[in-house]
Amino acid sequence: MTLTSGGAEIRFESVGVRYAATERPALDDVTFAVPSGALTVLVGPSGGGKTTLLRTVNRLVAPTAGRVLVDGTDVASVPLEELRRGIGYAIQAVGLFPHYTVAQNVAVVPSLLHWPPDEITRRVDELLRLVHLDPARYRNRYPRELSGGEAQRAGVARAIASKPRILLMDEPFGAVDAIVRRSLQQELLAICKSLGSTILFVTHDVDEALQLADRVVVLKDGRVEQHGSVLDVMLRPATGYVRDLFRADDVLRRLRILRVGDAMRAGEAGGAPQIDADEPLLHALERFLQGERRLSVCTQGVAAGVLDLDLLRAAVLP
Ligand SMILES: Nc1ncnc2c1ncn2[C@@H]1O[C@H](COP(=O)(O)OP(=O)(O)OP(=O)(O)O)[C@@H](O)[C@H]1O
Ligand SMILES: [Mg+2]
Repeated sequence: MTLTSGGAEIRFESVGVRYAATERPALDDVTFAVPSGALTVLVGPSGGGKTTLLRTVNRLVAPTAGRVLVDGTDVASVPLEELRRGIGYAIQAVGLFPHYTVAQNVAVVPSLLHWPPDEITRRVDELLRLVHLDPARYRNRYPRELSGGEAQRAGVARAIASKPRILLMDEPFGAVDAIVRRSLQQELLAICKSLGSTILFVTHDVDEALQLADRVVVLKDGRVEQHGSVLDVMLRPATGYVRDLFRADDVLRRLRILRVGDAMRAGEAGGAPQIDADEPLLHALERFLQGERRLSVCTQGVAAGVLDLDLLRAAVLP
């Protein structure tokens, strides 16, 4: 494993975890992969095994069956320090070092990596601004002088400070109010994507999961109920639990969550008016109701395909 930027692939192979003195395993035969640079969201009921799974990646928990591979290497064979330096980990119970200031906490890994001091200072300020903590006000405070949500934000800044190849995020903004959380998460993920980090992200907010995810993994009773794209879990829920969790039967919800790019067909739409592939299908439906017959679908301004009402209907009511 190296620490160059860009994401690492994570692969879970038949991973099982049985904590001592428990009759049911916390994880049972979990197999899936997170491709390099992708964002996979983990959802599922409390006690389903999400935190346990994240912790097998940075070896806070050792699998009792199967193995976890990072870029093809079993994490059990990587020296622990090396492994953890390549992984950012943000958790609900933040774990800031109480005798370090906010700035010192954020700078922990860059300092270990011997970044030049002025680069560390610049990076710390940039990260604090990113998580909406004004550096002038917060960099010299101690964790006990922060609110719960501010401490979480400092914890997230610390997790991404060294531009890790893997980010494990376990409800990192659980103590932040919903409106600020949405904007923090959007910004954080934009940054992580630009670094190319591979991200495993736990949330209880299902809508948020669907907005953010490249792939979704539903963990229940330690097993993978479903691993698929947003389209899969919305249109082809594998179990009743998954269908209920995402309220996948609700057509209006499908229109809000599925994207134009999910429904389009490749091809040219002549001079048809444009719509962006990332917009929800609901926006396309509005345009059709206003009288458009065909839309030219673009990604970053470049024509990518065609959408009409039949294609939209086929996507929403398969
Ligand atoms: N250290 C431990 N010792 C024994 N059992 C544990 C330990 N940690 C977790 N468990 C059990 O393992 C199972 C999975 O727990 P885990 O924390 O991974 O769930 P989770 O999906 O993260 O839940 P939540 O959404 O509530 O955070 C639960 O039944 C839990 O009680
Ligand atoms: Mg948990």
